[in-house]
Amino acid sequence: MNSRMLSCCSSSLAMTMVLLTCHLIVLKAELQVGFYSFSCPLAEFIIKDEVQKSFLFDNGVAAGLLRLHFHDCFVRGCDGSVLIDSTLFNLAEKDSPPNNPSLRGFEVIDRVKARLESVCKGVVSCADILAFAARDSVEMTGGLTYDVPAGRRDGRTSSSLEALLNLPPPSSTLDQLTLRFALKGFTQEEMVTLSGAHTLGRAHCSSFSNRLYNFNLTTKQDPTLDPLYAALLKLQCPKGDNSPNRVASMDPWSPAKTDVSYYSNLLANRGLFTSDQALLTSPFTAFLVSQNAQNDFLWKMKFAAAMVKMGKIDVLTGFAGEVRSNCRVIN
Ligand code: HEM
Ligand SMILES: *[C@@H]1O[C@H](CO)[C@@H](O)[C@H](O)[C@H]1NC(C)=O
Repeated sequence: MNSRMLSCCSSSLAMTMVLLTCHLIVLKAELQVGFYSFSCPLAEFIIKDEVQKSFLFDNGVAAGLLRLHFHDCFVRGCDGSVLIDSTLFNLAEKDSPPNNPSLRGFEVIDRVKARLESVCKGVVSCADILAFAARDSVEMTGGLTYDVPAGRRDGRTSSSLEALLNLPPPSSTLDQLTLRFALKGFTQEEMVTLSGAHTLGRAHCSSFSNRLYNFNLTTKQDPTLDPLYAALLKLQCPKGDNSPNRVASMDPWSPAKTDVSYYSNLLANRGLFTSDQALLTSPFTAFLVSQNAQNDFLWKMKFAAAMVKMGKIDVLTGFAGEVRSNCRVIN
């Protein structure tokens, strides 16, 4: 063999290696729809059943579960880290200001996990449970259902500081929101789409009472807040009372319906947070808001797609991480 041929062979060998490696990486990294078809065929059914039962008891559960998945994915990827309890040595994500006391739905996840462990021990990850439960919550409240690619593994780290650094606060401007979402790989359009999740659920007074009582030095009430809506909010959140049992629905007329009223509320200056109303502060995002407000089906399609994308942020797959046997504690 002359050297020319040799270099040709070795380069094609190198090519094959590269292709093989790529293939292996893909196998390792890709989430799959139907991931539990063989290892735990009833998994998705059990999750939906438990979410449904909890929802019938308290329809706020849907909002809680949807937000849990979002807060999981934006902090260290969708690795179930939001579910880990704090210990003497570690303040976990769930105890950071954006999460405590407002996150809810943990007991639902505990019940799901207990049932799954009893039928398929150590198989279904907590991170996947969150992704399925969020999908079921969207479906149960009137959104479009979608297939959830699965195979996420659970992380072994949870830090309250990381939650604080990665979750956008309700005081955010459009630029700040855009940056936070871009850091997680989202376009501005996807950000506007995902914000429609605020069609569900409630907020604690502390998340928006500055808009009612101390907007800035010279103006008490946020002028971009509809005065009628502000009056309603003031009834629910008396001045100076930020106790954790004071809450207001984010979409007062249909707090347990996944619909486009979030967007029509914004157009009527009835967005609850500064960050919600901020979506009207650029021509492009304002256009998207009115487009969504007018097209329920289009938004629901875009929302389902964006949820699938959110569920892929920095996932652990293959042999990385673990499958926790109790979602609250690392194995
Ligand atoms: C765009 C940036 C976002 C900001 C600044 C934000 C902020 C907040 C805040 C402050 C609350 C109320 C917490 C409380 O006081 O109780 C909340 C609730 C909620 N958020 Fe967001 N959020 C954002 C995006 C999202 C996304 C992308 C989703 C899901 C895809 C989501 C889902 C929810 C849900 C469902 C609730 C209601 C929770 C409940 O009723 O328990 N949010 N959000
Ligand atoms: C307070 O807010 C109002 C309304 O947005 C604005 O006109 C005014 O300049 C602000 N004052 C200060 C001190 O920032």
